Amino acid sequence: MELTKSEQEMLEGKHGEGVALAMKVQVATGEAFGAARMVPITRAHVALSNQDADTWFAEKLAKAGAKCKIAPTVNPGFSLAYFCGHCQSQQAMTAKDIDMMRRTHNAYKQLGAILTYNCTPYLGSNIPQFKEIIGFSESSATPYVNSVWGARSNRESSLSALCAAITGLVPEYGLLLDENRKGDILVEVQADMDNDFAYQMLGYMGKKIGPGIPVFIGLTKRPTPEALMNLGAQLNTSGAYGMYHIVGVTPEAPTVEVAFGDKEPARKVVITNQDLREIRDAISHAPGRIDYALFGCPHFSINQIQQVANLVQGKKLAVDLWIMTSANNKYLAERMGIKEIINAAGGDIVEETCTDQPCWHFLKGKVGITDSPKLAYYPKKRGLEFVIRDIDTCVQAALKGEVE
Ligand code: F3S
Repeated sequence: MELTKSEQEMLEGKHGEGVALAMKVQVATGEAFGAARMVPITRAHVALSNQDADTWFAEKLAKAGAKCKIAPTVNPGFSLAYFCGHCQSQQAMTAKDIDMMRRTHNAYKQLGAILTYNCTPYLGSNIPQFKEIIGFSESSATPYVNSVWGARSNRESSLSALCAAITGLVPEYGLLLDENRKGDILVEVQADMDNDFAYQMLGYMGKKIGPGIPVFIGLTKRPTPEALMNLGAQLNTSGAYGMYHIVGVTPEAPTVEVAFGDKEPARKVVITNQDLREIRDAISHAPGRIDYALFGCPHFSINQIQQVANLVQGKKLAVDLWIMTSANNKYLAERMGIKEIINAAGGDIVEETCTDQPCWHFLKGKVGITDSPKLAYYPKKRGLEFVIRDIDTCVQAALKGEVE
């Protein structure tokens, strides 16, 4: 890679040991992917996981004196304020689990990150512009910023996005270059995409779609922001996709021809109602009695919280119900009286928390219900099982304690 004088100085440690370490990681990544140079970024989002390797690396950078040049927004860990006051959860966590969250918080604070603890920054706190070059990690975020906002980010890891935030640079390869943003696979959607849940299932068709950039056609109704959030999250649970095109929605896909850059699709795939039904049944726990409902992977929008509140208003839930969201949305829900409605029914809104965290260990061995395959996928390793249905069915099930 050809580095400028100042980039070379960063690599050699003239800007401190922390910057040199971040630069070393980025130059090695750039060389592995054949990048010719580094380019500046104007935004970053770090998918901190609050798990050992991630926190170790952030602490190492902080100890070496690194500070973020571009302050990134960050993903959730778990809310110490909420779960350390929640008896069952606190009993199921170890002292190490609680200490890890404190260490993560302190490391990212020291690095100068914006401590949003939210995994949908592209809907509120960190929205890029068309063609803006950025460094984003997080499975639903990268496809959203590329495919909906038309910004340019590779599918960064939490570590490489943190390095980008520290140096203010990224190696130029992959989705930063015009020629790599064209479609590869034509995906004709014949299924009725009549609600946001259908996009969860469409996203989970990664195995059938296969590797490359999909170009979706047949989506006759404009998808909602939540539908697009669902699509990206599930594409990156069932596969690995930094970008997709929806003709008429993605800024770089006004027509099918433009989306493919005048080349022929390498593959054509058809998705039917039967495909969506089969994938739901394959990944869902069998219907029957449920012990709780959990939503917000990715974090629920205020519209989704409102949808749940409308369904439970004036009723009593038969089982626990939690909604994970950002601190901002929780605050809005309080202000709008929505939280009060959910609390009165026996449910709760949990801020700044991810499904893949030890705070949910107390649900081990129980069967929950959720609208998100991603939410069901990650906690499997912690012994949590989920029936997967649309939001309305999930809430009706939580009111009855069972789902048909
Ligand atoms: Fe967000 Fe964690 Fe799900 S970061 S998308 S709640 S796995």
